[in-house]
Amino acid sequence: MTAPTGEAAEPTSPFLRACRSLPTDRTPVWLLRQAGRYLPEYRALRERHSLLDLVRSPELAAEVSLQPVDAFGMDAAIVFSDILPPLVGMGLELEFVKGDGPRISNPIERTRDVDLLGTPPAEETMQGTLGAIALLRRELESRDVPVIGFAGAPFTLASYAIEGGSSKDFARTKAFMLSEPAAWKRLLGKLVTVQADYLLAQARAGAHALQVFDSWAGRALGREDYLRYVAPHNRELFAKVCAAGVPVIIFSLGVSAYLRDAADCGGDVVGLDWQLPLDEAWERVGFDRPVQGNLDPAALLAPWRELRFRIDDVLGRAAGRPGHVFNVGHGLVPQTPVENVRRLVAHVHERTA
Ligand code: CP3
Repeated sequence: MTAPTGEAAEPTSPFLRACRSLPTDRTPVWLLRQAGRYLPEYRALRERHSLLDLVRSPELAAEVSLQPVDAFGMDAAIVFSDILPPLVGMGLELEFVKGDGPRISNPIERTRDVDLLGTPPAEETMQGTLGAIALLRRELESRDVPVIGFAGAPFTLASYAIEGGSSKDFARTKAFMLSEPAAWKRLLGKLVTVQADYLLAQARAGAHALQVFDSWAGRALGREDYLRYVAPHNRELFAKVCAAGVPVIIFSLGVSAYLRDAADCGGDVVGLDWQLPLDEAWERVGFDRPVQGNLDPAALLAPWRELRFRIDDVLGRAAGRPGHVFNVGHGLVPQTPVENVRRLVAHVHERTA
């Protein structure tokens, strides 16, 4: 029998195979924030260009994305960008302030501000990132290294749009959510429209997989609020992004109290943060789903003996089941020693080959 037209052939790269729970000849590994300030070659570029300049230039963004792949043999390249630039196209004024993180100078304060937000197509507003993906795909095809595109989830983006920057307590976001439930729905609806379109555009540009970062919903909300104010929007986003036909990774930080509810919103691969032991988290989401994780990134600040012990612990808990992508459970910090990243990647490959 012939395969239905359009059905993708079985992938050969360990990362894409693991994303479909297929057996691999070694455990694939890539790391959240694998491109960034811990790398001297990144810091050198940042001396001459702002973060947003790097993101807006396809050539520079591709160059930064390739740095950790060339240096350490990562099994996937994540396009260098950020979750916040798509907000600019919606009408928010974004800056990255040195030492202070992202800043939005016209945050959402009233329900009217929600209605003024635009939903332009990503092909008009995110050309830099889409161009970088196309360049990366061309560059990495012969090495069989897949390219990962990404976007932020609606709650996480709404929190920046309302707080005007990073927040510890999400007080403004939650006040808006609880006081203006109808406007909250419209805001998250617009974010779903923009992010789904952006993720689909990244797949068309050549991304082999997509990751959705829901960094803050789990930090901000208890389960009941998550189910009421976030889950329906996440479900809508994942339902739309299915059409891309590539594996989608859902990464929700701090959702140990309701991991299954978060994972049930959709996506194929479940990205696990570092709070639960990998085997326990995997059992909760179901061994039939592939997982990605979940070394505490702080382990890379430890001496090699301790780091190796913790890498082996994660691998031991994965127990050679198909469908494990090795990763950290949150982004690498800028103090991470380069040598530890090199040894981590080599060790995961050696131990699992
Ligand atoms: O290598 C990669 O992982 C790709 C690049 C990437 C960046 N940001 C580049 C970046 C990715 C995947 C992100 C995602 C992102 N951005 C998230 C979700 C993941 C997470 O960490 O939970 C969030 C919440 C943001 C928002 C953001 N961007 C903040 C809060 C900050 C400032 C804090 C900080 O780490 O400096 C950024 C800036 C940022 N984005 C940097 C990088 C490399 C550092 C800025 C610099 O070079 O000056």
